[in-house]
Amino acid sequence: MTTRPLSPLDEKWTRRLVQAIRCYHDLGVSWLAFPPDRQRGPFHDTWHEWLLTCEREWRAARTPVPPASDDVPDREPPVTSREHAPVGVSVQEVIKPSSPSADEWAADDPGLPATETEWSLPAMSAAEKAAALERLQQLELGECTRCKLSDGRRHIVFGEGNPDAGLMFVGEGPGQEEDRTGRPFVGRAGQLLDDMIRAMSLDRSQVYIANIVKCRPPGNRDPETDEIAACQPFLFRQIEIIQPRVIVCLGRPAACLLFGRKTSLGALRGSIIPYQGARLIATYHPSYLLRVKPPARQKEEKLKAWTDLKLAMNILGLKVPASNRQK
Ligand code: URA
Repeated sequence: MTTRPLSPLDEKWTRRLVQAIRCYHDLGVSWLAFPPDRQRGPFHDTWHEWLLTCEREWRAARTPVPPASDDVPDREPPVTSREHAPVGVSVQEVIKPSSPSADEWAADDPGLPATETEWSLPAMSAAEKAAALERLQQLELGECTRCKLSDGRRHIVFGEGNPDAGLMFVGEGPGQEEDRTGRPFVGRAGQLLDDMIRAMSLDRSQVYIANIVKCRPPGNRDPETDEIAACQPFLFRQIEIIQPRVIVCLGRPAACLLFGRKTSLGALRGSIIPYQGARLIATYHPSYLLRVKPPARQKEEKLKAWTDLKLAMNILGLKVPASNRQK
């Protein structure tokens, strides 16, 4: 069977379909206009299985991409309970930097838009984005009780920053300080994130910061599958509204969720993946960078994170400050 490389059309619609499948399955179809008096039954499981089978077959028919040379082992400590990212439901894993460019793909598919951005959502002004985020937070998320994390939280940490940011960071979930204040990344990890942002010659007011879950998991444990499933539509919607050019995933859970791959962070670092008109990059979570020992190793890991941030800077057209160039 002859195959052709993945086109932007394939990528976009498959991603949409896969997101729909996940929501459909994880949320028990309750908000997909299914009559409220009907429970999810065997029909839904069969439908879900069928969609997954189609997607698996579709992926099997794609040209395999050789393993990337950056497939280094994960350096983050083993994360035993972070097994929540869906398995086998991503098309993005076949797209590596070495894959054909979007232009080449488009050439292969006559009649397709030449760039991915031509397909994105209608352009919104900064004020419209701010209003849409406000609506999402106040009207749709509200005083959310969709999962058990609502039981112990003090504040929902929706996310904050520039609604029109070119750069968005996505972390895992609020910690103690974030739960107390209602703001993302304001504890020790937040201070390191601020330093990372400053090293990119930006400041916090120029970027947007969000998490995959908006309420603090008790004792800072990893968020569980059902909690992520309940919260992810809000993150996806934030991304759709902000339409950043680059999304930096901080740590494995955020990277696995957005890359749609259940793998190590090491396998995701170094790849630049198209995502809803943006580019996805994965790097270490600041909390990990703070706790890694001994100091020499910590320095090494921070340098690797800096390499990842420089990728983001390149895409954003930011110049690496001379003082940081050798780092
Ligand atoms: N860690 C996260 O992942 N998010 C925060 O907001 C704070 C710490």
